[in-house]
Amino acid sequence: MKTVNAVKLGINIDHVATLRQARRDIDPDPAAASQVCRRAGADMIVVHLRQDRRHIQDEDLAKLCALKGDVHLEMAAVPEMLAVALKVRPDSVCLVPENPREVTTRGGLNLKAGAKALGRTIERLRKAGIEASLFVDPEAANVRMAKSLGADTVELCTSAYAGARGKTARAAELERLELAGYLVDEMGMHLHAGHGLDYHNVRPVARIARMASLNIGFSVIARALFVGLKPAVMEMKRLIAS
Ligand code: PXP
Repeated sequence: MKTVNAVKLGINIDHVATLRQARRDIDPDPAAASQVCRRAGADMIVVHLRQDRRHIQDEDLAKLCALKGDVHLEMAAVPEMLAVALKVRPDSVCLVPENPREVTTRGGLNLKAGAKALGRTIERLRKAGIEASLFVDPEAANVRMAKSLGADTVELCTSAYAGARGKTARAAELERLELAGYLVDEMGMHLHAGHGLDYHNVRPVARIARMASLNIGFSVIARALFVGLKPAVMEMKRLIAS
């Protein structure tokens, strides 16, 4: 039987900064956008501070962390980013793979290859009272390894689900998410999911048992151009709650 979830919505506002950086100007301001998102029902503001600083800048992050409400930072498990996180103290951090040539994050972490750096980063974050999450592809082995690395939360990468074409492929990807999600909960970690989620594909993911939070950016910011940021967030919030 499926449990009814009160799924939280994390809104990723990176692309507000993408637009600003196109002119290196002061508008649109991600901190101002965060306030609109929160008023529209976003439970958490998500930003990815990339090593190449292509969108969110250090000052944006500092400003967001000084405001009221939860901030969830996505970052690579490297000493430079760890130092930033320990300084500005977001509520939670999701460690993600990063490649300067990618247009967006491509799939989850290679936990085996990165185990040492990931384990060390998680330990430092948790000691500082910052919740640590790992972004992984929905596989049992990844979930088990996330637990052994000390993660509080697992964020399942939904990009294969979002990119699946046809009912059968989509259903198979959803099942992978459900099975991995079940294991995340069984192992006592919080369950998040995100990447590539939009107004058409989000509902089945929101209904996965024990789903705690969905982190969504591009589709909401893109829709905001047509309907405004507040209605775009409210519509997504309605979809994941229904
Ligand atoms: N979750 C993680 C770990 C991400 O890296 C991203 C993209 O920054 C998202 C969620 C949001 O993805 P999208 O912008 O496709 O909604």
